[in-house]
Amino acid sequence: MVLIARSVFAQQRRAFSSTASTAYKVAVLGAAGGIGQPLSLLLKLNNKVTDLSLYDLRGAPGVAADVSHVPTNSTVTGYLAENDGLKKTLTGADVILIPAGIPRKPGMTRDDLFNTNASIVRDLAKAAAEHAPKAFVLVIANPVNSTVPIVSEVYKARGVYDPKRLFGVTTLDVLRASRFISQVQSTDPKAEPVTVVGGHSGHTIVPLLSQSNHADLAGETRDALVNRIQFGGDEVVKAKDGAGSATLSMAQAAARFTDSLLTSLDGTPVTEPTYVDSPLFKSEGIEFFASKVTLGPAGAETIHPLGKLNDYEVKLIETAKADLKKNIAKGIKFVSENP
Ligand code: NAD
Ligand code: LMR
Repeated sequence: MVLIARSVFAQQRRAFSSTASTAYKVAVLGAAGGIGQPLSLLLKLNNKVTDLSLYDLRGAPGVAADVSHVPTNSTVTGYLAENDGLKKTLTGADVILIPAGIPRKPGMTRDDLFNTNASIVRDLAKAAAEHAPKAFVLVIANPVNSTVPIVSEVYKARGVYDPKRLFGVTTLDVLRASRFISQVQSTDPKAEPVTVVGGHSGHTIVPLLSQSNHADLAGETRDALVNRIQFGGDEVVKAKDGAGSATLSMAQAAARFTDSLLTSLDGTPVTEPTYVDSPLFKSEGIEFFASKVTLGPAGAETIHPLGKLNDYEVKLIETAKADLKKNIAKGIKFVSENP
């Protein structure tokens, strides 16, 4: 009982004492949605976030009022489109997260979301390029393989593109890989780091199990595990039965990536897989690729090569590259035809 009380007091002290060395304004665009709401809560709990700015076409002021009662010292403001809400959300932002966009229903691929989400992301990117051109942009809206190139094209057209500041959030694939491998091995997922590279959909998601703690995984066990990591999103879409896709695990993933970025901006570099403008396969016409990236004050400071792969993984990468090339070209073409 005493121990429980002590631990509660310790948690409260941590929550009330701001340990942040720098103040950060974080903006969430699409904050009233399935991901936006739990993500806003998790960001409110992060002491590095001092100003949380929530934007949505509907409901953001309500989410902000609700989250603002959580006892940490950050301010929370919610905006709608009226009264220059998007401009107010973005002005002064250090980090912008974009979960705005529709989610999948059973039977759809992420690419089926393109027609709706491409213009949503393009328009939000235009506003971000105008009102917060130096902010780090973390794209969550699907199809990530295409929406990240959309943001880069919008920024290039305005002369404000810094490739080190744009990220596709692929952290959910990393969380799934750790969890799923821990279920196969009966281990603690926290002790099961898995590097996941490529992109964020189906066969473009490539877990490098040969670099995990279980390099000897082979045969049907390995194939089933890789398939589950690649198609983990479908499990959730199917179980939600028309009510959307992963929201809670995604919020945790985005909150973790944001914390890694803020920790790195504060001077402690963190290395995480993420989908970035990457030199790894540019010579093959693939402008973006997820791999381990060391984050620092400038953003994506070191993009790491894939390291040693086995023959099985070489084949997975080849398949991923073919899909990625098409997904990236689709995003670039969309902006050139619909600027
Ligand atoms: P949702 O429908 O619950 O929420 C989306 C929110 O965006 C809504 O509140 C909506 O009002 C808002 N919105 C739409 N257009 C907007 C605009 N122009 N400006 C501001 N807000 C706008 O969807 P969700 O479950 O939160 O998913 C959001 C997106 O994230 C989907 O595209 C989904 O596929 C994607 N997603 C990505 C990952 C990943 O790993 N990167 C994981 C899960 C979901
Ligand atoms: C996921 O991986 O859960 C997301 O990309 C959402 C989806 O459509 O599966």
